[in-house]
Amino acid sequence: MGTLIRGGTVVTATDRNHADILIVDERIAMLAERIDPAGHDVVDATGTYVFPGGIDPHTHLDMPFGGTVTADDFETGTRAAALGGTTTIIDFALHTKGDSLHNALATWHEKARGKACIDYGFHLTIADGRDETMAEIPKIIAEQGVNSFKVFMAYKHVLYVDDETIFKTLQACRDAGGLVQVHAENGDVIEVITRQALAEGKTDPVWHALTRPVECEGEATHRAIRLAEIAKAPLYVVHVSSAMAADMISDGRKRGLSIYGETCPQYLVCDTEDYRRPNFEGAKYVLSPPIRDKWNQDVLLAKLKNMELHTFGSDHCSFNLCGQKELGKHDFSKIPNGAPTIEDRMSILYEVGVNSGAIGLNQFVALSSTNAAKLFGLFPRKGTIAVGSDADVLIWDPNAERTISASSHHMNVDNNVFEGMRVKGRPRAVFSRGLKVAEGNTFTGRKGHGAFQRAEKFYPVQL
Ligand code: URP
Ligand code: ZN
Ligand code: ZN
Repeated sequence: MGTLIRGGTVVTATDRNHADILIVDERIAMLAERIDPAGHDVVDATGTYVFPGGIDPHTHLDMPFGGTVTADDFETGTRAAALGGTTTIIDFALHTKGDSLHNALATWHEKARGKACIDYGFHLTIADGRDETMAEIPKIIAEQGVNSFKVFMAYKHVLYVDDETIFKTLQACRDAGGLVQVHAENGDVIEVITRQALAEGKTDPVWHALTRPVECEGEATHRAIRLAEIAKAPLYVVHVSSAMAADMISDGRKRGLSIYGETCPQYLVCDTEDYRRPNFEGAKYVLSPPIRDKWNQDVLLAKLKNMELHTFGSDHCSFNLCGQKELGKHDFSKIPNGAPTIEDRMSILYEVGVNSGAIGLNQFVALSSTNAAKLFGLFPRKGTIAVGSDADVLIWDPNAERTISASSHHMNVDNNVFEGMRVKGRPRAVFSRGLKVAEGNTFTGRKGHGAFQRAEKFYPVQL
């Protein structure tokens, strides 16, 4: 007795077939043109696409940041993710300077345990380049099932690390089967420009964007790639916001380097004008790197299409306008950075990518799921529909329409950067390891169902 998903069009990163899927326990047991329904629970998927569940490689749940803590924890964040079609998230465990990576990971396991509604993995951030920290990296990869480590070139005095630390981390990861992720913005230059702007009385949200010029992202992306080149190490550039930074990635790849790039829904939909919204609404868009001039959107989309950018992460980092973003009412540099995007990530890629004709269905799956699984050591358990893979299945109705709004979303936050946007295509049902976790707009899963997913070592995949 299993669950039979019947009559849909099954789409993976490479194939598209009319097929039935049989789920037994937590796995996909059979995939065939027609499977006898006798004895099974039948789910009618006629008229739908059946995708592997989404993998969101970039979330911040229950994270202290900017003098407060993100509004979504592992329960509310993963519930909203499930309703949006995502069945696995990879969250950032924050390392504290002087402490061990092991302790950072233990803290994040504690945050997620018993709360997560879908499966999860972790990246670790690196806060210092001490010998002890570097020596821990191979152990974390081999024993703890985490294969990726983020370094921050921005957020001076907070998360920022210098080039020495970045270079050592690249070398340690190269030798141990890890992948370095980089937040590429020149934090020193941003710090100077920000102090100057504030001294001149420039305090509104728009100054967040004006004090983080695109050249800061371009320069840092180029520097990080050159550091990776010297170290002969692979590199993953998170939340690429601009054509300039994306071009640096393309250039590095042309030199034969293993450089991967991620962009996010907010960079395909929002633009710099949003910072000028009245009544402090511009604060919603205060995230880093900042939202760019509109023309960048087309370039980022073209890079996704040409596979010069490889993943689509939400960078979900939710803060309420009321009581949280308000911390920077009189000083843009005190507005906590981040936006709530975990729920709408897949809908945005489908609308802006597939419905516009820019990307095909296979590419939609690659960008929203498969490539992340490959890079972060989860493939083929996750990220595809194949016999033996986990039954993480997204039944997608390509014709259902909805309007995105904070008044109806499921994230635990009072704002949505896509407010009022009409999207066509949404989940009809979502399965996480065989458990139906969403049906239309209703959460049908269970708090605590989500389990930690150990990552295999990183190997340089061809994407
Ligand atoms: O503004 C952002 N992106 N907040 C989350 C932290 C980060 O840099 O990813
Ligand atoms: Zn970042
Ligand atoms: Zn982030």
